[in-house]
Amino acid sequence: MAYRIEPLSPLGARVEVTDPDALLASPTAPGELLHALEIHGGVLVFPRLGLDAPTQLAFARRMGDVVVKTSAGWSRAHPGVYRVALDPAANDEFFVKGSWDWHIDGATSLGIPPKASLLACRTKPSAGGDTQFVDTYAAYDRLTAEEKRRFESLKVWHRIELDAYSTPMNLSPESLARLESEPAHLHPLIWTHRDGRKSLVIGVTATQVEGLPKAEGRALLRSLVDRATEPRYVLNHVWSVGDLVIWDNRGTMHRARPFEADSGRDMYRVMLEGDEPIQ
Ligand SMILES: [Fe+2]
Repeated sequence: MAYRIEPLSPLGARVEVTDPDALLASPTAPGELLHALEIHGGVLVFPRLGLDAPTQLAFARRMGDVVVKTSAGWSRAHPGVYRVALDPAANDEFFVKGSWDWHIDGATSLGIPPKASLLACRTKPSAGGDTQFVDTYAAYDRLTAEEKRRFESLKVWHRIELDAYSTPMNLSPESLARLESEPAHLHPLIWTHRDGRKSLVIGVTATQVEGLPKAEGRALLRSLVDRATEPRYVLNHVWSVGDLVIWDNRGTMHRARPFEADSGRDMYRVMLEGDEPIQ
């Protein structure tokens, strides 16, 4: 066995890789890891695995098709690799600081959310910049029976609204124009997955409940995020160079903690194409 898995609390598991080459070459590891992701609350942490960008991409491709885009942050040299750094040469400020609020990747830019994301630490921040995760299946399970019934038919608009973000941003006219062109999607508040399990579809992009006054809907959505992200339900990852974290983007929400541009934080992300519409 090239690795061993130890559960983390309150969710996730740590994957200690004893033989990285064997892991990368193993024909069974990708399926085993996707299964482990499912049974361990949607997060796998691989301490100091040390994959470079092309190896991270190759590793992801063995688990599924990867999302490839060409907009800000996306690598031309390694299509499918997206860089997260507070550096105007690397990415647009909005897409870095916007990830400091709880979110599901691709909730606005892609109609079908990515199945999973793989984030690797290239250089660690000198301060701040942890990444946090919560299990949105568990958040659904904790609703009262009355709430489960009442929320079953609710639909929610996901779109980028700058006043929903907790971090003030000083965006260029080009960035603002780009954000305005991002599509909005109407998703059910409760996602009933193919296996019958249910999760909440919430986060900073969930800005309006269809059929409710805007302020009332926003207050409901905020309270659901607050309840889902109470500290006792949060897995906090402090990055070391070479760490890789994989999360199930359909059943978790995540955020980065704020960091300064000069903290040195620099990460690579690869996303697996989603194949399950929110329904
Ligand atoms: Fe993200």
